[in-house]
Amino acid sequence: MDEPMCLTESLVSNSEVSTSEETVLETFSHQVGGRSLILTYNRNTVCKPLNPQELRFYLDLPESLRPFTPHYKGVLKVAVQIDDAGKLKLTSSETPTACNGKIRINNVLKDDENLSKGGNLHNGDGSLHSEGSINPWTFHCENLLYESLKESVNNNKPIDFMLMEDLVHNYVSPCIMDLKMGNTMHDSYTNEEKYERQKAKVSASTSKTLGLRIAGIQIYNQDLKKYIYQNKYFGFELNDQSFKEELSKFVHNGNQLRKHVVVSFLEKLQELYKCLEKQDKLRFFSSSLLLIYEGHHNELCENTSSNASNYSQRNGQDEMAAVKMIDFARSFHYTQMIPIGADESYLLGLRNLIKMFQEILLEEETHNHNSFSRVKESTNN
Ligand SMILES: Nc1ncnc2c1ncn2[C@@H]1O[C@H](COP(=O)(O)OP(=O)(O)O)[C@@H](O)[C@H]1O
Ligand SMILES: [Mg+2]
Repeated sequence: MDEPMCLTESLVSNSEVSTSEETVLETFSHQVGGRSLILTYNRNTVCKPLNPQELRFYLDLPESLRPFTPHYKGVLKVAVQIDDAGKLKLTSSETPTACNGKIRINNVLKDDENLSKGGNLHNGDGSLHSEGSINPWTFHCENLLYESLKESVNNNKPIDFMLMEDLVHNYVSPCIMDLKMGNTMHDSYTNEEKYERQKAKVSASTSKTLGLRIAGIQIYNQDLKKYIYQNKYFGFELNDQSFKEELSKFVHNGNQLRKHVVVSFLEKLQELYKCLEKQDKLRFFSSSLLLIYEGHHNELCENTSSNASNYSQRNGQDEMAAVKMIDFARSFHYTQMIPIGADESYLLGLRNLIKMFQEILLEEETHNHNSFSRVKESTNN
């Protein structure tokens, strides 16, 4: 195998001057997990290599799930070149097609498990990175994409990308957690080797016990003005207790609990739960839930608020926290008449997430109450 390419900098060339008809796909700065390379198409649109099963799922998406998923924006043919500096240059000179499901899909990347496992991992080790920096996981995915696209470069064939809403385009410093949902990551179509691999991953992690596994985190620390990153390997080191601690750390950016964010997450998670309970023909194998909130915030507002729920509504801040389902490459919409029931594996994860966020809020209230009582006691004495 060839040496991994320049690992310390982006493999995707983004300094190119594009012609008026040509769009250069730029590096997306906030990719926290996954194996596909997510790229920026325009200000509010990202794209990922097209997976036919994922496209099918978006095209058949039930109306009630739309508020919980990125808007699907079509399919784009992308030309792959390697520039003089050895970087991938991905460009498109066509307009996206809406793709109603009848379009022929050429040269798509069918199975990201077949991609090269080469490429060192960058520090997703909790180390600090300056404001405005690119999530280091991106470089890992660039290497995978580079390996898989070599053929397309050589035979000059365009590849298909799926366009969707960039879920963080409105955020100044997005804090993001990617959670792999459920305790069943495989389906009956998975080959045996893959089935065993997925089963082992579930058994060795909080997927089994909680129906949740951390697949990537970025937290913006407001005081330090830096991001802290963790990649998917970190998720395998956690047990139920340390998982909850990481969830709690995620909603403490800086030195205080972002109460209104937790309240907003809880509201949205409960809505999603109600919605998925009613879906009796869907299965979300290996799918993710993104928890997103704004890392930049006004501490004064948070401190003066007595009621987190009122606070979030009064200030419209609940808009700056989101719960979104992504990654449907292995999800199914059963077309048979007979319903198969709700996806209990996914619901298990949601129930545990809701429970842990409720506990985090309660623990904070108890802590504040105890501190207040201690201050009161010492002033009385
Ligand atoms: N629509 C989106 N908006 C913003 N970020 C996204 C979006 N889709 C994916 N991402 C980011 O890219 C990562 C990988 O995406 P995913 O669809 O899970 O890819 P894969 O199929 O390779 O697992 C996610 O962890 C998330 O950080
Ligand atoms: Mg994923």
